[in-house]
Amino acid sequence: MSNPSPPRILMCPPDYFGIEYEINPWMNIRQGADSDRARDQWRLLRETLLDLGAQVRLLEPKPGLPDLVFTANAGLVYRDRFFASRFRYGVRMGETPFFIEWAQAEGFQVETTPDDYHFEGAGDALFCGDTLFAGYRLRSDARGHQWIGERLGVEALPLELVDPRFYHLDTCFCPLERDLAIYYPGAFDEYGRAVLKDQIPRLIEVAPEEAISFSCNAVVVGRTVVLNEGAPKLARDVAAMGFATRPLAFSEFIKSGGSAKCLTLRIDGEEAAGWKAPSAVDTKKDTHSRV
Ligand code: ARG
Repeated sequence: MSNPSPPRILMCPPDYFGIEYEINPWMNIRQGADSDRARDQWRLLRETLLDLGAQVRLLEPKPGLPDLVFTANAGLVYRDRFFASRFRYGVRMGETPFFIEWAQAEGFQVETTPDDYHFEGAGDALFCGDTLFAGYRLRSDARGHQWIGERLGVEALPLELVDPRFYHLDTCFCPLERDLAIYYPGAFDEYGRAVLKDQIPRLIEVAPEEAISFSCNAVVVGRTVVLNEGAPKLARDVAAMGFATRPLAFSEFIKSGGSAKCLTLRIDGEEAAGWKAPSAVDTKKDTHSRV
């Protein structure tokens, strides 16, 4: 039943993580984050992903870039292509050269969106099946996603994010399989909710009190969902769909507006993720496929 090749995930140790500026409603310089606790929480996430069979690669942390730890914002990986982020706020722009350097060293074909299009990578661009769901307005621009969709030859569906607390798509939406996702309806406008309902046959609604503790910001490894602790309803709902949950503490990263998913980037790209249909080769190897 196992994936032919293990999931590969990029993380960046939180050596220089901290709350040094405020670019989302969660961040408060005066409150700060506890470095030791952040290190422990990050380590536990890494150990959990390893335990679930993932390979974790590390990006070297850099002083002065406290948010480099959020590798989901590096860019969008699709097969051998890497679309580098173009951050909205100057305080994060210094991360991009390091993400590009890493992607080039990994052998990716690196592409950048046109100058005037903001794009915050896998934080705002998530595949569910063959469709790219693209959050825009608060960080990324819809035009950037359209540009990427055209370059990849896939449909990119823009979803406007209307609540500043859910400023990246991965804070309010998480695909589990090609026809199954979790989402927090309050983060979208009516049109966005209609698009999601129309496109994804099985949608699990996350309750407001669980969404606010970042439970949508989950990492899916096979049939296990790694997420912030304190979401018993969601745990029940995903269990009913055949997924186990691994709740962990992310309090220090939530002070920066991030949680499990933000701290990871799938290096093996969308075609390798659990919700993508298995290729003919995989199907031959494993007739009891995971999808
Ligand atoms: N402090 C970071 C920011 O505001 C948090 C990024 C969270 N990343 C994510 N993919 N949601 O940019």
